[in-house]
Amino acid sequence: MICIPITSPTNKEALTAIKRSCRFADFIELRMDLIGGGILAELISAIRLNSISIKIIVTCRKKEEAVAVRRNAHSECVVRNTREKRELLKEAIELGADFIDIELAEGSKVINELKSLCAGKGGKTNIIVSCHNLKETPALFELKKIFKQCAKFKPAVVKIVTMAKNVDDNLITLDLIAFAKERSQKIISLCMGEKGGISRAVSPLMGNFLSFATLGRGGQSAPGQFTVHDMNKFKELFGTRHHLSLASALSLRKSPAKNFVLLGNPVGHSLSPLMHNAALQKMGIEENYSACCIQDIGQAIEGIKGFNIRGASVTIPFKVAVMEYLDDIDDDALAIGAVNTIINDGGRLKGYNTDWLGLILTLKKSMTLRNKTFAIIGAGGTARAAAYGIIKEGGLPIIVNRTQEKGKILAAKFNCPSFPLSEISRIKADCLINTTSVGMYPQCDKSPVNSEVLAGYKYVMDVIYNPLKTKLLTNAEKQGCKIFSGLDMFVNQGAEQIRIWTGKEPPIALMKKVILKRLIAK
Ligand code: ATR
Repeated sequence: MICIPITSPTNKEALTAIKRSCRFADFIELRMDLIGGGILAELISAIRLNSISIKIIVTCRKKEEAVAVRRNAHSECVVRNTREKRELLKEAIELGADFIDIELAEGSKVINELKSLCAGKGGKTNIIVSCHNLKETPALFELKKIFKQCAKFKPAVVKIVTMAKNVDDNLITLDLIAFAKERSQKIISLCMGEKGGISRAVSPLMGNFLSFATLGRGGQSAPGQFTVHDMNKFKELFGTRHHLSLASALSLRKSPAKNFVLLGNPVGHSLSPLMHNAALQKMGIEENYSACCIQDIGQAIEGIKGFNIRGASVTIPFKVAVMEYLDDIDDDALAIGAVNTIINDGGRLKGYNTDWLGLILTLKKSMTLRNKTFAIIGAGGTARAAAYGIIKEGGLPIIVNRTQEKGKILAAKFNCPSFPLSEISRIKADCLINTTSVGMYPQCDKSPVNSEVLAGYKYVMDVIYNPLKTKLLTNAEKQGCKIFSGLDMFVNQGAEQIRIWTGKEPPIALMKKVILKRLIAK
C-alpha cells in the first residue's frame, strides 16, 4: 500500500498536493512539521472530501528530521515543542484521523496518554509508535530491542526507519520485518538514504505495512524516497512469484563456509578443540576446529567473514563484547546478554548462547527445577546464563557475589534477590551453583565457600570441569549433598553448538569420553 506524504511548505500548496495525491494513495501522511501554517482540520476534510477510503496519518517529527528534509527544499520547517506536538496529535484524534505517529522518544507517559485518548474516542484513531535513526542502521539485535520497546505499547503499527550506510543495511531492516511478522506485529521497516533503495523497493513484498512514495521528484519526506511511478514499476518487476527467493538472492551467498574456531584469550588450556574435533570426525564432517588466542574481537569477526569460517565458539573475555559485531542474535542470547556461539550463514553472523542450556540440561537430569531456589555464586556471564535458564524452568535464583554492586545489577536484571558472598550463611536454598573460577586448575585447593555452609543444600554444582571434582564438590559430598561437576555442562553446551552449526545430532557420549580421558590422564 502506498502512502504519499504531504510536505508542502504552505497550507494552500498542501491542499493542492492532497487533491493530486488522492488519485494514487492508499494512505496520506500529513507532515505537520513541514507544512507551514498547516490547518489540520482543513487538510483532513480535504482528504475526506476527495476520498473516504484513504487512510490519514498525522505526523509531527522532531526538528532534526524536518531540517534534514528541508535542507534540500530551501524552505522552513515548523518547530513544535513536546506540549505543542501533543496538542496537535490530540487535535488529530478529535478530528478522526486514522493514525497518529508518535515517536518512541516522546516517552511512555505521552504515548499512553494519547493511546487512552484514542480508546476514549472509540478507537477510530490508531497509533504508530516510531523510531528514526538518521545517522546509521544499528545491528539487527539493537533494532530488535527498539522494536520490543515500541511493541510494548501495543500500537497498531511499529515504524523503525534507519539510515543506510551500505547496501547490507537493507537486509537488516528487511530481517526486522520477518521478526515482526513472527510476533504478529504490523511494521514499517526500511532504510533511508541513497543506499536504502533496496529496502524501499523490496519491503512491500516482504509484508511491510506500507511504502512511502512521492508524486514527483522533490516532494520527499525522507531521503531516498521513490516516486509512486517507481514503486509501481518495482511491483510489476518483482511480481509476487519472486517473493521468497528475493531476500536470499539479496544476501549474495558465497560457497559453503568451512571449519570452526574458538575465539578467546587465553585459550591454551581449552579442551573444546579436543571435544569438537572428535565429534566432527565421528560425524564424518571433514572440517577442523581450532583455538585462536585473539586480542581484538572486531578483527576476529572480520576474519570469520573473510575466511568464510562456518562457526565459532566465543569464550572469556569476549562473550559480551562480541555482540555488537554480529548481524543477528538469538532471543535467548539477547536476554542473557552474552554470546558463546556464532554461525556464519552466507556471510551473515548470528550469535547464540548455549551455556544456559548446557547448565539446565545437566541439572534437569537429576532434579526438577520448578519452584526450587538456587544460590548462584558469581555475577559474570556464566551466572547470567544460569539465572536466565533457572527462571525459564520456573526456578528462583539468588545472586551471591563477592562485589555486591555487581551482584545487585545482575539481580535487578532478573528481578531476583542478591547477597554479598560474605553473607552466604544467611541464605537458604535447594541448590548452590558456583560460576566463578575459584577452585579451577591449577588452584585446586580453593573453594568459594566454607564447608559448613554446604550442609544446608541438597544439591551443589560447580561449572568448573578441571579438576572433575573441585574442592567445593568434595566438601559438598562430605556434607551429603548431591553433586554435579561442570563436565556435563561443558559437553552439553558443546553438543548444542554442533546442533546449531550442522543441524545434526552430535555424539554426546563420545564427546564426554574424550574429555574424561584427558582429565583423568592428567
Ligand atoms: P564468566 O563470564 O565466566 O562468568 P566473569 O565475567 O569474569 O566470568 O565473572 C566471574 C565472576 O566470578 C565474577 O562475578 C567475580 O566476582 P566479582 O564480581 O567480585 O569480580 C567472581 N569471582 C572471580 N574470582 C573470585 C574470587 N576469588 N572470589 C569470589 N568471586 C570471584
